[in-house]
Amino acid sequence: RAIHLQDYRAPDFRVERVALDVDLYEDHAIVRATLAMQRSGAADAPCRLDGVGLTLEQLQLDGADWPSTHYHYDGEVLTLEGVPDRFVLATVVRLAPQLNTELEGLYRSNGMFCTQCEAEGFRRITFYPDRPDVLSRFVTTVRADAVRYPVLLSNGNPIAQGEEGGRHWVTWEDPFPKPSYLFALVAGDLSCQEDRYVTGSGREVALRLYAEPQDLDKLDHAMASLKASMLWDEQAYGREYDLDIYMIVAVSHFNMGAMENKGLNIFNTSCVLAHPKTTTDAGFQRVESVIAHEYFHNWSGNRVTCRDWFQLSLKEGFTVFRDQCFSADMNSAAVKRIEDVDMLRAHQFPEDQGPMAHPVRPQSYQKIDNFYTLTIYEKGAEIVRMLHTLLGADDFRRGSDLYFERFDGQAVTTDDFVACMAEVSGRDLAQFKRWYSQAGTPQVTVSGELEGGRYRLSVHQQTPPTPGQPDKQPLLIPLRLALLDGAGHHLPLNAQGDTELLLELTEPQQQWEFALPPGVERVVPSLLRGFSAPVMLAGEDSEAALRHLLTHDDDGFCRWDAAQRLYRAAILRLVDATGRAAEEAAQLAPAMKAVLAGAGEDAAAAALLLALPSATQLADSLPEFDIAAVQQAHDALAAALGHALATDWWQVLERWAPVGEYQPVAADIGARALYQQAASYLAATAQPEIGDVMVRRFAEADNMTDQLGALRLLVHERLQGADAALADFARQWQHEPLVMDQWFGVQASAPWQTAAGIEALLEDARFDWATPNRVRSVLGQFSNANAVAFHRADGSGYRLFASALQRLDQLNPQMAARLAGACGRLGRLPAVQQHALREALQQLVRQPLSGNLDEVLTRILA
Ligand code: ARG
Ligand code: ZN
Repeated sequence: RAIHLQDYRAPDFRVERVALDVDLYEDHAIVRATLAMQRSGAADAPCRLDGVGLTLEQLQLDGADWPSTHYHYDGEVLTLEGVPDRFVLATVVRLAPQLNTELEGLYRSNGMFCTQCEAEGFRRITFYPDRPDVLSRFVTTVRADAVRYPVLLSNGNPIAQGEEGGRHWVTWEDPFPKPSYLFALVAGDLSCQEDRYVTGSGREVALRLYAEPQDLDKLDHAMASLKASMLWDEQAYGREYDLDIYMIVAVSHFNMGAMENKGLNIFNTSCVLAHPKTTTDAGFQRVESVIAHEYFHNWSGNRVTCRDWFQLSLKEGFTVFRDQCFSADMNSAAVKRIEDVDMLRAHQFPEDQGPMAHPVRPQSYQKIDNFYTLTIYEKGAEIVRMLHTLLGADDFRRGSDLYFERFDGQAVTTDDFVACMAEVSGRDLAQFKRWYSQAGTPQVTVSGELEGGRYRLSVHQQTPPTPGQPDKQPLLIPLRLALLDGAGHHLPLNAQGDTELLLELTEPQQQWEFALPPGVERVVPSLLRGFSAPVMLAGEDSEAALRHLLTHDDDGFCRWDAAQRLYRAAILRLVDATGRAAEEAAQLAPAMKAVLAGAGEDAAAAALLLALPSATQLADSLPEFDIAAVQQAHDALAAALGHALATDWWQVLERWAPVGEYQPVAADIGARALYQQAASYLAATAQPEIGDVMVRRFAEADNMTDQLGALRLLVHERLQGADAALADFARQWQHEPLVMDQWFGVQASAPWQTAAGIEALLEDARFDWATPNRVRSVLGQFSNANAVAFHRADGSGYRLFASALQRLDQLNPQMAARLAGACGRLGRLPAVQQHALREALQQLVRQPLSGNLDEVLTRILA
């Protein structure tokens, strides 16, 4: 049963105040809720409250039992008939958090109690109008055994506490009205790292990071990131924190990365814990960005929230844009932009091409959990970035100031957000808003002509149809442009001498002309600079032009994209057998040597410029997803480049070998990335020497980046010593779950992996179906990061995956549905694979499944 945006209606009842009393025991929990209700809609409307799977023990209205003839509970909605316009509703419900494996609502994780309410988990805790446009003030009392659960937390500030007969309680009050999805509660035996932050206006904030005692040494990076985020939001957006306490709790069992509950964030351990010995560089950067993301939500999400879940990108797109800019400021902006674009193109573009394609503001959904997608988050962030580009930094800031001021304490829409940007800038953004309502990746085609001292650029846009949206309208696409001459200089583009312009493409077809200075004989356009719009750009890019850009362009994204296009062309010539690997490598070698020669300036950028596009991405860019053929060509080119540049790669290994104490700072991260890139080219040649070096590096590494980097190459390339290294690694890290996730992940993502091998990992005693991180490290890596093994022509990967999904769905539907998205390429697979996958999924969909998994499979099979 689908829910439609156009059916939105304001709520019939508001909740003025909520008092919750949550009494926690080993085998059950009792939740007493007192809601001060007030009618806001039709005089005769019944009062409807959400409540999923609750055992109702008591129901009173204004202090008296409400007769059972006047209410009805169908397992999802509690309907109260004939209620007055104002009343106090008191309910008592019984829950079983210890049996909650869906990790939604109130559940247990490693002996602690915690909650996850977004999007619709609160209704699994108590009866409530569980929708984001009902905001209320919460007072929450948590009660539990004093010895087992010394720490009792909820949103806001503690206002009272007590102890009685071995049990204790704490009452928390949150002064800010909030929707129920931001409610949180934690009870456990937790250790705390505490610090403080003083806001610009002088408010002193206690910062408390909670984790299990053995992880107390892994919170420094999160704390530093939090303080940096708080300062950044004051400087970049003028936003200060608004409570006296900011708490973050690390939990081992969590479906997503983290959750921005007011004043009490709950984090997946993988997004908050960090230590050089157990966390890679990528892990450190992820912690920094997720800490920032959840902190930024305090304004973009909590103070101003969403009217309904169709508006999810209002908070997620904006907040991702904010965290991207923060990370860019903390590290290398060019590198961060390339990483974000690479991620978008590798994962969001395929979503747009598949059965799950949907607009950033969807029209309808069955399960909102299935819409926490790359489209909502990452494409949503690109839309906000385009507004920033079109308006300029100053107007964008004025627009965001207006948005926060005007809508503080309200639940609003993406239209409201854009309206603020339109108002401060005086621009008509009506056409721009199609980015929110139209699904699919626009294709932009360009061609240039040099004639009589003028350069004419012709641009064409078109968005292919997506499910339910056959016809597309032209979008407003900001195109940042520069023109390079034959010597690599940037040409002036107008009378003022600007060397970069922002073109606004609004029509299906448009042309621009530029008068060139005398004597210009060659023009190479540098287009879509900074990836100024989330589009697929096609041009006549001759390889000479791409080499020219790679050598001379000053835009980090365009240089990297030129390199990607060169590699892509080479690999595709190997796929269709028009090229030979050794010759392609020889062709590419000079440009790559030039990148290496300049690596001293920015090793991270050099590592990116030297990296081949993944075989999966290349296969996605072709009409048929023939991963086996593309992977083979990809690996052949990698090996040929390993040989052709062997001396250079060995020099990188010497020059960029780790020195000094590990630090997760940009320069060192870049050095390690470049080292790993060089090592991977050498490993692709399968020469024994590189195996020896990796075995040594593995043994001597004093940090997880180097250790795991070596292990990955040993295992993936099946070098001598791989098995011993795997065994050593497991012995060394058996007590660190996040590191053991990596151990599973390295094996599940190995290109030689088989269905039997995956099955063995699933049957390993250390595997656990109830821990999302562990499940992702095997099934997520296999289905999402190991296309060549997953799509093996015998269909064994599909059968194994389908039966794993069925099993997982019984425990955790949200995660099963999310993993199932990997089958979205069904319609683009070669016939043999397509047949095998369809059969496996058809058999699966005949089983009794959750609504979550059913929605995804139905879309895929449609
Ligand atoms: N709002 C969270 C974040 O992006 C994610 C919550 C996801 N919840 C869910 N049920 N999918 O920061
Ligand atoms: Zn978010």
